[in-house]
This record gives sequence, C-alpha cells and structure tokens, in this order.
Amino acid sequence: MLKDYIVKRKSTRKFDMKPLEEDVLHEIKEFATTMKPLYEHIKVEYSFLGENEVKNILPVKAPHYIIISSESTEGYLTNVGFLLQQMDLYVSSKGLGSCYLGLAKPTEKADSELEFVIILAFGNSLDSPYREESEFKRKPLTKISNREDQRLEVVRLAPSSTNSQPWYVVSIGDVMHLYCVKLGLFKGMMYNKMNQIDMGIALAHLYVSHTSTFSYFSEQNPPVVEGYYYIGSALIN
Ligand SMILES: Cc1cc2nc3c(=O)[nH]c(=O)nc-3n(C[C@H](O)[C@H](O)[C@H](O)COP(=O)(O)O)c2cc1C
Repeated sequence: MLKDYIVKRKSTRKFDMKPLEEDVLHEIKEFATTMKPLYEHIKVEYSFLGENEVKNILPVKAPHYIIISSESTEGYLTNVGFLLQQMDLYVSSKGLGSCYLGLAKPTEKADSELEFVIILAFGNSLDSPYREESEFKRKPLTKISNREDQRLEVVRLAPSSTNSQPWYVVSIGDVMHLYCVKLGLFKGMMYNKMNQIDMGIALAHLYVSHTSTFSYFSEQNPPVVEGYYYIGSALIN
C-alpha cells in the first residue's frame, strides 16, 4: 500500500545510472495513468525522459525523469504536487529512489501548449531509499496544526521544497482545513510556486491514507490563521 511508504521514504540524490529494466519502467508509466488528480478539469501531461534529456544546476543526476506539464489555471500547482506525490510513493514502494528537482528543466522544450512544471528523478538508489520514522527532520505536530491529531502525522512527514514544510492544518472533526505560509515579497518570488506544489504533496498523503473516503472542497468562510492563507479542505472520513 502506498501509505506504508509515507513513514519510510526519503529523497535519493545518488542514483545508479544504469537504466531500469523495461518491465519496471513500463509499470511506472502505467501507474502514471492511474494517478488521481485533485482537480479533474485541469489538463496535465507526463513525459518520461532519460539521463541526458534534463539539465539541472544542482549535481543530482538520475537515469530516469518524469516531467509533468499542466494547463496553468487556478490550483494547478497544488494539483501537480498531488499527482506527483502519488508517483513518489509508488516509486518508493518498488524499492527505488526518487527526488523532486525544482531547479531542473528538460534540455529540449516540449512541443505542448501546457506549462512545464516540475521533474521527479527516479531510479535505483545507491543508498537505501528508506529511513526510520525517527530520522525524519520535521516540525512537531504542535507547530503545524491547531491540535495534536495523529491523523496529521502523514502531513507532518510529507516532503517539501528545501524542507520548508509550509503547511498549517486546522483539524475540526473529520475536516482538515489546509493553509500555506505567507511569504514576503522576495522570498515569495523564490518559493511561492514551490510551496503550492508542497501543499499538493501534503494533500496526497492525506488522500493515500484515506483513499476510499477522501474528498476535497473549498470552504466559503474557513477559519483565519495568522500568517497563513487558505488552500482548501479535505474531508477524510
Ligand atoms: C517541490 C520540491 C522541489 C524540490 N527540489 C529539490 C531540488 O531542486 N534539489 C534537491 O536536491 N531536492 C529537492 N527537493 C527535495 C527536498 O529537499 C526534500 O523533499 C526535503 O528536504 C525533505 O527531505 P526528504 O524528501 O528526504 O524527506 C524538492 C522537494 C520538493 C517537494
């Protein structure tokens, strides 16, 4: 089950550059067609690229990359994070490593009207792709939510760009209202886009832990949280 990997996964930055077996790659491509979007109406496209088809200013190189492009409409970045985190967990469930690459780009611009959003590198990891739950470097539950609701542990452990963990959750009954940190002008220019993706990643963890009951909606008058803005709400039970 994908949810089992929430408490184990970690980013891989050292890959075995040997390409994966064709059947494994095929399974990964098949899985991409089954990933659930947060917003059904937003058009997205995936493409799979190899070692020399991506340029990255940081020295993380992988034998395979999944590239996600999307129609750039309201909520699209959160939708992308939601989709790609399902892939991150799937890759982890196959014993492989993965890493989001926020600064990488395909070497060739795709012939698509959709906007290139982000890349997830994957392949065999040279180290273990797993860690113990105690080894996660994350904020405590009390810093990211209004109450110590253990169901939010999956949000707490989610990966985020620069591990910034921009989320805050107001948990009321079975409804989880999600918020993202407000950044100043300069930091915002650098991180707002990534933070929207991070929020989708956190929501994906709520989804894979409650696949049969999860639903997502926008509240008209959500509670106000100082220093954060409202993203959306998940009903998990
Ligand atoms: C949207 C996003 C962008 C990221 N970009 C990069 C990147 O460019 N380079 C990198 O090495 N790691 C990148 N990461 C990985 C994070 O640094 C990592 O998820 C975080 O530090 C938590 O560590 P963990 O994934 O091992 O739990 C990114 C993660 C996310 C979610």
